[in-house]
Amino acid sequence: MDDGLMPTYARADEVFVGGRGAVLYDQDGREFLDFLAGIAVSALGHAHPALCEAVRDQVGKVVHLSNLYRHPYAEPVATRLCRLTDMAAAFFTNSGTEAVECALKLARKAMHVRGTPERTSFVALEGGFHGRSLGALSLTWNEKYRRPFLPLQPVTWVPPDDALALARALERERPAALVLEPIQGEGGIRELSGDFLRRARELCTATGTLLVHDEIQSGCGRTGRFLAAQHHGVVPDVVTLAKPIAAGLPMGATLCTAALVDTFQKGEHGSTFAGGPLVCRAALVFLDEVEHGLLGNVQDRGRELRQGLEQLQREFPVVREVRGRGLMLGLRLHHSADRVQKALHRLGLLVNCTATDVLRIVPPFVVTAAQVQDALQRLRSALIPIPESPKEMP
Ligand SMILES: Cc1ncc(COP(=O)(O)O)c(C=O)c1O
Repeated sequence: MDDGLMPTYARADEVFVGGRGAVLYDQDGREFLDFLAGIAVSALGHAHPALCEAVRDQVGKVVHLSNLYRHPYAEPVATRLCRLTDMAAAFFTNSGTEAVECALKLARKAMHVRGTPERTSFVALEGGFHGRSLGALSLTWNEKYRRPFLPLQPVTWVPPDDALALARALERERPAALVLEPIQGEGGIRELSGDFLRRARELCTATGTLLVHDEIQSGCGRTGRFLAAQHHGVVPDVVTLAKPIAAGLPMGATLCTAALVDTFQKGEHGSTFAGGPLVCRAALVFLDEVEHGLLGNVQDRGRELRQGLEQLQREFPVVREVRGRGLMLGLRLHHSADRVQKALHRLGLLVNCTATDVLRIVPPFVVTAAQVQDALQRLRSALIPIPESPKEMP
């Protein structure tokens, strides 16, 4: 289609013009339940009153300054993020990919500081997704994304939850860092085991490898705790955040422990736009909501949604598995999830497919109990006409 855009996305036909909470409406006034939230982003839903007020106010004051000047909001965001993540300092970015890129550079620089500059490689997990810049893409498992851009940064891949393979890879490669998502998002809402996460922490400490948790999709409260790794008591050396962090405005952050705070010296990393007053005001609104109990809603609605999905699994043999935690859930089918996703779209429920056979369900954190039940009803309607074709079952 000649629409002036590079053809990198297959987009739906509707033109969305507004929304409220977990509901979006298109230019014909048709309403959709938004259980994708702009791919796990819009934590406060659409047109959240406090966000509207703060952003409106800030646009009338100052939108952009660059990082050469101070404004009143960056330090409070950094301090609060550090408190919520057990980290010591933050670098702000404009996206998740940039947060990963910052983490990779931080790991490489840390190896120089330690006197082991030969430790330049990375270990990552099969199924992982970390972004599309040349660095982040190197750690992204999906061959389809990587192949057209080879050669990339050398990476050693380890299967998720295989602690022996991880131990061997870290021992042999002596990489700068191990990078992993505690719950793989694009990899099909695949949760790593607590045992594996804890073992990865021990192995990284033993081999002097930095442990980077990419919590861009699983973090900021989506699983009911601020970080998914907090369910297992694991603290990495570096954590990357983005998606919901500024309630839909483009922002990310790379956070590190006290031992790494002085790794970058002036001029060694930077960004013109990142951490500006507008996005930081939005992030403060989001963090205020988190501190006022928003994650309680994530836990409660997440429980209801999971129970409903498990009921669907009992009713429909085509449902293979319910995955994930909190409001980061996946419904794995016995065949491609594409057809069900399209049926749901026609029924006015927005979700998407990940890893071919998984429906990704990541609604706003403000979703209501009634909307959860409504979405489950629509899911039931979409699953009913799916014939159980033995051909399609493995
Ligand atoms: C775990 C993870 N890391 C990195 C990214 C890249 O983030 P962005 O698209 O904001 O650059 C994503 C995006 O889906 C992600 O899920």
